[in-house]
Amino acid sequence: MTTRSLGRLRRTDFPYYAAHPDAVYLDSGATSQRPETVISAETDFVGADYAAVHRGSSVATGEATWAFETARERVAAFIGAGERELVWTAGATDAINMIALGISDASLGLGSADLALSAGDEIVVTEAEHHANLIPWQRLAARTGAVLRHVAVDADGLWSLDGMRREVSPRTRLISFPHVSNVTGQIAPVADIVGLAAEVGALTVLDACQSVPHMPVDFSTLGVDFAAFSAHKMLGPTGIGALYGRAELLDVLPPARTGGSMITTVTMEHAEFLPAPNRFEAGTQPVSQAIGFGAAVDYLASLGMSDVRSHEEGIAEALVETVTRTPGVRLIGPAPGDERAAIASVIVDGVHAHDVGQFLDDRGVTIRTGHHCAQPLHRALGVPATVRASASVYTDLDDVARFGEALGEVRDYFGVTA
Ligand SMILES: Cc1ncc(COP(=O)(O)O)c(C=O)c1O
Repeated sequence: MTTRSLGRLRRTDFPYYAAHPDAVYLDSGATSQRPETVISAETDFVGADYAAVHRGSSVATGEATWAFETARERVAAFIGAGERELVWTAGATDAINMIALGISDASLGLGSADLALSAGDEIVVTEAEHHANLIPWQRLAARTGAVLRHVAVDADGLWSLDGMRREVSPRTRLISFPHVSNVTGQIAPVADIVGLAAEVGALTVLDACQSVPHMPVDFSTLGVDFAAFSAHKMLGPTGIGALYGRAELLDVLPPARTGGSMITTVTMEHAEFLPAPNRFEAGTQPVSQAIGFGAAVDYLASLGMSDVRSHEEGIAEALVETVTRTPGVRLIGPAPGDERAAIASVIVDGVHAHDVGQFLDDRGVTIRTGHHCAQPLHRALGVPATVRASASVYTDLDDVARFGEALGEVRDYFGVTA
């Protein structure tokens, strides 16, 4: 087993590995480690160039605003968006809530009638959603009288295009789905779903949290209407993410948050909003995090996202091979040999996921246990929790081997013989 090496990547780029030379970090699906360039971009900005952004006319403000907007240009270019199509948010959760709350306002008559939902309209999601791409739609349905439908998953936690076809109807107004499942690693057939949505005139929302960090993604080519992702899963800082939206939609989506810096005119009775993206960025923004986010996409772009994907395909293959040859361990998600992201969630027969996690942790292997914010998916699998290993650019085959060794010892340790 080989993986394509990522030419410019050095583990020494990541201070985490200097602090923990023997670490096996397989929890990048939760949050990723950051290269020195990201950390220093943020601290250098805070140390030397910090000032208010988009407020006042001083030279310092002008320079800080330039840095902030340049970061936006870089993140936008990274995902094939125009600058007006990239809104800073607190993260993917925040971005999805902003879409749902905006549509909720439109449904109350506070914005474009084109985006309004009425009682009986339908929203379609999958049973594999992260709660961040489920609960906002539940709330939107409750507020508007819309019906929330879902595509069920099968015994491996997979949903299908056929299943989606069965749920979509002429009443469907919005389809929201995960580009990559954070539990199974399943990769969605985005173009097919965009085509299906177009047939019934529905909007599409892509939860791209687990795809943008790991493969080439261009939202305008994919043709989705909205998308959400988080910096901290793609080598960047916490506290910032992005909402992508087609410019003409963002210009009519009501802002979920209102206040300073997002208006043109305010009277005691009324406010007019700026065009996108500023109409969504009320209040003081996460400026240094935006600078760090820009540095993170620069780092990923320097590796080349096609090379990142090939590298992680090799890791995914190794994870699948390791898990499937370990007795008493069941792999969730795509079958061996089928396309998947470098995420492997497993159930160990006879041992609770949390005990597996503790055992691996004691051996220096950091993975995630629990429901991974996807309770409906776990309910469908019939287990409360799984054990998830997830990779990033710095993951290597040695990490997978050490994960495999420890996983292979778990059942013996807990005295499970059957
Ligand atoms: C698929 C998916 N969607 C949404 C989220 C939410 O991201 P955040 O917590 O950064 O807002 C996550 C995070 O785990 C995720 O994996």
